[in-house]
Amino acid sequence: MKAAVYTTYGPPEVIHLHETETPVPKEKEVQVKVAASTVKFGDSYARHFNDVSPFQFTMPLPLWIPARLSMGWSKPKQPILGSEFSGIITAVGDKVTRFRPGEAVFGYTGQKFGAYAEYLCINADGIIARQPENLTPEEAATLPYGALMALNLLRKADLKAKEKVLIIGASGGIGSAAVQLAKNYFGAEVTGVCSSAGTDYVKSLGADNVIDYTKEDFTKSETSFDVILDIPRKTSFSKGKPILRSGGRYMPVSFKGRHVLQRLLTIPRRKKVITALALEKTDDLLLIQELAEIGKIKPVIARSFPLEQAAEAHRWFDEGGSRGSVVIRVNNGTNNL
Ligand SMILES: NC(=O)c1ccc[n+]([C@@H]2O[C@H](COP(=O)([O-])OP(=O)(O)OC[C@H]3O[C@@H](n4cnc5c(N)ncnc54)[C@H](OP(=O)(O)O)[C@@H]3O)[C@@H](O)[C@H]2O)c1
Repeated sequence: MKAAVYTTYGPPEVIHLHETETPVPKEKEVQVKVAASTVKFGDSYARHFNDVSPFQFTMPLPLWIPARLSMGWSKPKQPILGSEFSGIITAVGDKVTRFRPGEAVFGYTGQKFGAYAEYLCINADGIIARQPENLTPEEAATLPYGALMALNLLRKADLKAKEKVLIIGASGGIGSAAVQLAKNYFGAEVTGVCSSAGTDYVKSLGADNVIDYTKEDFTKSETSFDVILDIPRKTSFSKGKPILRSGGRYMPVSFKGRHVLQRLLTIPRRKKVITALALEKTDDLLLIQELAEIGKIKPVIARSFPLEQAAEAHRWFDEGGSRGSVVIRVNNGTNNL
């Protein structure tokens, strides 16, 4: 099969098309003929992970060594990127009862990646579900990462109906889903923070208010919030505290050891720091499928590239051109068997 592979860490150009072995499903796995994948933060980050020093690492320092070892110390262990996918089931292992060949599915492979390829195999009980009926395969592939993370993180921040939430990084992969879910699923009032280029996009996702961080300091906002979801960690608890209501929660999505300490120290306080690792669950993907089918979460495609142009897709993502998802079409973006 054809796959877009990278065998050394580096800039987008390290990704190239390569003929590789088609994976065969084990007894609990399904084989998916991939229709589409995407470029998200994790794909770009993994591609140049050798450049990420322990201090630039977006998570607590002690996790850097295990992360580096699992990615591959001097060269990537998994040469095929792509963690979001949509496609059609082409074969199932002997013990699989959840899916049958011919079913259209979408899902998330997380740090196992592997979706920039004509075929992938995934555990049938993993993060995979039937494709939302109202979406094209390209649209379906854009949903899992952001929606799974946003759903999990907003739950951990204990966001409630009618609360006010400030979402910093509202135009990104997690933020785009967080705006829609906070508004349409949790029933909160949403203020999104992004740069000038993203303000119309974030409004179109349903945000009640948008703050352009290049023009306005959101920490001086006259509105106070119940939850601050700081996805790119562009502020701090001390700067966010004045705009947090009593009982308010500041959640840095990318966090360090000091934030874990702040979390412990603020347990007895009225204004708290929340840190959490989002865990992907199959049931959450099933919920996302339902929410997509009733229009409570909508995919937005910024640009779509064929598999042959995976390197260009990465370059485009890295240059920050995306207001919406960057899609990689595999097998022409169709679910044909
Ligand atoms: N806790 C967990 O379990 C978990 C799970 C997954 C990911 N993460 C973390 O989440 C982060 C990736 O999130 P993502 O995929 O949404 O990233 P992304 O798609 O790259 O989006 C980043 C966003 O940050 C915004 N931004 C950049 N500079 C800003 C500034 N100065 N002020 C306000 N916003 C700014 C960007 O907006 P503009 O383009 O408009 O500037 C963009 O919307 C990583 O740090 C990753 O480690 C954590």
